[in-house]
Amino acid sequence: MSLAQAVYGQFRKPHGLLGRLAGAIMAARGSNRQRNAWTIELLDLRPDDRFLEIGYGPGLSLALAAGTITEGAIVGIDHSGTMHRAATVRNAEAIRSGRVTLMTGGLELLDGLDEPFTKVMSANVVQFWEDTAAAFEQIASVMAPGGTVATTYQPRHRGATAADAETMAARITGWMRTAGFSDVRTERLPLHPMPVISVLGTKD
Ligand SMILES: C[S@@+](CC[C@H](N)C(=O)[O-])C[C@H]1O[C@@H](n2cnc3c(N)ncnc32)[C@H](O)[C@@H]1O
Repeated sequence: MSLAQAVYGQFRKPHGLLGRLAGAIMAARGSNRQRNAWTIELLDLRPDDRFLEIGYGPGLSLALAAGTITEGAIVGIDHSGTMHRAATVRNAEAIRSGRVTLMTGGLELLDGLDEPFTKVMSANVVQFWEDTAAAFEQIASVMAPGGTVATTYQPRHRGATAADAETMAARITGWMRTAGFSDVRTERLPLHPMPVISVLGTKD
């Protein structure tokens, strides 16, 4: 296995030295920064939103959300302790002031959160969930009626094609509808080296 493959293999759950390297790549890579910024734009955040990000990685979107959400709450969950440390450094001031709360763990943490959330997002995390249908049910259960969920995905695996983005969009659409989200729509960002999709839905 090459070093590059070893680092990319870390994206599911970064840990150790290679995990820190993977986190640094996520934080610096233009396409990653753009798809996070675009997802935040799509969510049209308000100062009093209660925002949840699943799989925050190095914490790029949390930092952007903290620029707008001044009266609500910002919560992130990620099962990587390595990413918890990276996101803590990036969001140090907002954490100190109590505006951002970071948690280490997976979707099982959703049961214990202080809900409901008005905006929920994930960016390049959906492909790692083992029971994706159940994941969207869990997400719906912690959202306020009228709240918006955005699930963003850019295929980055070896041999990825633009069609992979569309295939994932169709699958996410199905999972969201089954979980009871309405007005489910797909937005597209024509980014290099692959297009990005974000599927948005409204909690009934
Ligand atoms: C490819 S990275 C994307 C990070 C971030 N969303 C971004 O766009 O910069 C995937 C992240 O999701 C986290 N992750 C994957 N599966 C998860 C799960 N089931 N629960 C919580 N975090 C998860 C990983 O630890 C990793 O930090």
